Order: sequence, then C-alpha cells, then structure tokens
Amino acid sequence: MSSANVYVFETPQDLAEAAAKAFAQKATRSIRENGRFAVALAGGSTPKALYELLAARYRNALEWSGIHVFFGDERTVPPDHEDSNYRRAYEALLSRVSAGSVHRMRGELDPREAAVLYEKELTAFFNGPPRFDLVLLGVGEDGHTASLFPHTPALDVNDRWAVENPVQKLGTTRLTLTIPSINAAQKVTFLVAGEGKAEALKEILEGDVHPYDYPAKLVRPAAEPDWFVDRAAASLLGRL
Ligand code: 6PG
Repeated sequence: MSSANVYVFETPQDLAEAAAKAFAQKATRSIRENGRFAVALAGGSTPKALYELLAARYRNALEWSGIHVFFGDERTVPPDHEDSNYRRAYEALLSRVSAGSVHRMRGELDPREAAVLYEKELTAFFNGPPRFDLVLLGVGEDGHTASLFPHTPALDVNDRWAVENPVQKLGTTRLTLTIPSINAAQKVTFLVAGEGKAEALKEILEGDVHPYDYPAKLVRPAAEPDWFVDRAAASLLGRL
C-alpha cells in the first residue's frame, strides 16, 4: 500500500487533535451536502482521546442531530460491561452530545441474532447496502481491525454486512462489520498509536504479508484510507 495517506504525529494527543479536526470537517461537509453524516466508531482504547476531544471541543461546533453513530465492532457483552465498545464511546462522547441516532451492536444477545439484527438496522438506515461517510478503525498488534482477526471466519464473508466472528485465540465471539461494509465507505481512517503497533503497521503498509495474517490489509476502499499514526507506531516505517 505504497500510496497510503500516512500522517505521523509526535504524540497520541496530537493524533487525537488532528483526527478530531478531520472528523469535524467531514461531518460538516457531509451534513451540508447530504443532510447527514453516518460514522462507524472504532473500539478499543486508542480512540478515547478523540471521542473526549469531540465532546469537549466540538459539542457546540457540530450539528450533532445530523450525525448518526454506528460501531465497527463490539464485544459479546452487555452495554454496561467495562469491555463494551459502546460503553467506552458512551462515556467519552455519546453521553455528552445529542447524536441524531446511535446504533449499538447488541452484545448482550446471541451473537448470530445480534449480527442479523444489526444488518437489518444498517439496510434500513441506508435504504440498502451500508455506505458510511466515515469508518474509524484501530489496528491490533496482530494486524486485526474491527473484530476481523487473523484467520477467523469473518475474513471470508463477502455476502453479509455484519457478522458474528468466533475468535479462538480470545476464547470469545465478537460482532463486526464485514470487509464489504468497510470497503463501501466514503472514507476510512485508521488511528494507530504506540510502539506495540509498529511491527503490524510496517507489515500492513510496507510488507508483502498475506492479508489473512494482517486483516487490516483487506481494507481497500475506493478512496485510499487515511492513517493517523503517532511517531512510536511509525518507528519502523521505511519512509521515516
Ligand atoms: C476492539 C477494536 C479493535 C481495536 C484494536 C486496537 O473492539 O478492540 O475494535 O479492532 O481497534 O484492537 O485496540 P487499541 O486501540 O486498544 O490498541
């Protein structure tokens, strides 16, 4: 992926500041042009600073009633569980703004049922296949993104928009958008911080590894993804 748009920031906070500004620009433009902004939030811990900044700095600057919030993935836990991606986003952002709509993956349900329900919610909102204005993604040290983990069944799924995905190495099942859902997005932005991600980032951006070993390589939307990374995560990239 030599043509990737890689933006390197000194610190995770600088990364969050830039990501918040980019989010606000995209949301403002999309609401102005299309009357709405549909975004899928990333899970994990990296986006926390971004979500907190959006709540603190952009609460009044954005027309939140035009912003419709989805999730890239979810753990199979209730929404009040400490591992819930919804709970993390709710505490950092959604409890502090009034989004037009929030579409939670129902981690408390049977995973197969939750995935089917989410697909119904996606196709009802988009009146057809999902086409997010923005999908935010993180990357794991093993190269996973959303809950698309290396060599898991969801990597082969091309006829669904959201699925349950058994992740043997975690001993759990996750809920996740599929590659077709993510690749149909207008824009995908990866947020990657910390030295622990450096090897995965190098393999994803510069390696000739198999995408099933580093599933983030499967993310190939029409518009080149933006990679917002900090200096530590970028430390093994050849261009630096
Ligand atoms: C999740 C995420 C996952 C995450 C990466 C990075 O539910 O965990 O969706 O894909 O983005 O694991 O997580 P960190 O930001 O915590 O490193």
